[in-house]
Amino acid sequence: MSRPKKNQTPAEPPVKHSRQNHKIQTLKGFKDVLPEQQKFWNFVFEKVKDTADDYSFQKIDTPILESASLFQRTLGEETDIVGKEMYTFTDKSGELVTLRPEMTAPVARAYIEHGMVSWPQPVKLWYWASLYRHENPQAGRYREHHQFGYEILGGKEPTLDAELVIIAYGLYKSFGLEPEIEINSIGCQSCRKEYIKLLKKYFKDKKVCETCTNRLEKNPLRVLDCKENKCQENLKSAPQIIDYLCEDCKNHFVRLLEILDENSITYNLNPYLVRGLDYYNGTVFEIFVKGNDESRIALGGGGRYDYLIEQIGGRATPALGFAGGVERVVIKLKELGLEIKDEGHGDVFVAQLGDEARKKCMKLFNELRKQSIKTREAFNKKGLTEQLEIANRLKVKYALILGQKEIMEGTIIIRDMDSGVQEIIDFDKVIPEVKKRLLGLNGLKVYSENRITDN
Ligand code: HAM
Repeated sequence: MSRPKKNQTPAEPPVKHSRQNHKIQTLKGFKDVLPEQQKFWNFVFEKVKDTADDYSFQKIDTPILESASLFQRTLGEETDIVGKEMYTFTDKSGELVTLRPEMTAPVARAYIEHGMVSWPQPVKLWYWASLYRHENPQAGRYREHHQFGYEILGGKEPTLDAELVIIAYGLYKSFGLEPEIEINSIGCQSCRKEYIKLLKKYFKDKKVCETCTNRLEKNPLRVLDCKENKCQENLKSAPQIIDYLCEDCKNHFVRLLEILDENSITYNLNPYLVRGLDYYNGTVFEIFVKGNDESRIALGGGGRYDYLIEQIGGRATPALGFAGGVERVVIKLKELGLEIKDEGHGDVFVAQLGDEARKKCMKLFNELRKQSIKTREAFNKKGLTEQLEIANRLKVKYALILGQKEIMEGTIIIRDMDSGVQEIIDFDKVIPEVKKRLLGLNGLKVYSENRITDN
């Protein structure tokens, strides 16, 4: 077989076909999110969105597929993501493309591409996105996972770093979790250079694991978060970057911590925290939560990336961000048995008996919906008992029952589903009557148990 010429796309690996008649299933590390799980996902989404609104972040969506070089140039050739985990392939037009493994680089690309540098700075963007990393799947680690994130582009003040940590902390609290924050500063290009020299010197005659031997050559900072015993032992007396920060980096970090203290945010200073992506500088932080067995789960992380935008062709723009894994929050919520109300529940159920009643009820259903009343139905069912059972399951407050007799009399039955008490009312007055009954205390309209809106 002839070797591929320079610039020629390498031969593609043999395609694995599933056996004929073999059951087709989701790919390893991929999953479906079934209807019964949606309430957890919606709960997390609503909190993430509300937080974005509170802090004036605007939503951004970017394509799932990007040019491979976007990630190769920013995340670092030596990182696990670029080195081992990216879904990269040549598309039909011969372009090397990658399924996005993270969102910071795409957001930075969009910032440059859409001239956001001329928008009022800083530009605050949030997202909710699916990401692809060819990892070894295990509990809480998937090949397709989802992240929510907040990025602040065009701002260098430590108040922004603090705002981001406060946002992350408040968000996890709003999920009902107890977040633990680990924080560090890994300095700017100049102070880091000095520190790396010292670190290499320190490790020169020390025994480290095979991965770290390589890291000391190519990405020495990553030695700091090695979990191997022999490396951990050596780290105990290794120089700590915090002691070698330049004046600017030190002041920035101290100011950030002061603001966190003022806001009563508790954190752990972790001198070994460097994060697994190369684009960071200065502040880095991670959010953990305790697992069942006292282990800790990383729920999210972030930091500054002041050089990234310039690295991909933009103007030098200080920036920072944070992202959290959706699946891990959902796992934690379920583990804690947090009660989340089902959104399928409605306020009113329209039950019908007979063809004529069904027609009238279909019209009534639409009219109730237009009045923003959460209305449910089962027009495919005929029996009243069956329909009332569904109404019960949907936890509606009232059922409206229409049969032949009511049509003749121009009335409809309204049944209080809790007490079972039924009353006959004029059909023409049903909408104002339902609205009146749904009126809660203090002039607030209670449409459903978990939705209270101003009248
Ligand atoms: P990251 O630490 O790689 O950071 O991912 C953020 C979070 O996504 C993790 O803490 C974890 O909860 C979740 N996560 C990561 N990989 C997986 C996986 N395979 N399965 C399930 N969950 C996962 C970033 O991606 C940065 N872009 C964060 C950032 C935003 N930095 C600045 N701005």
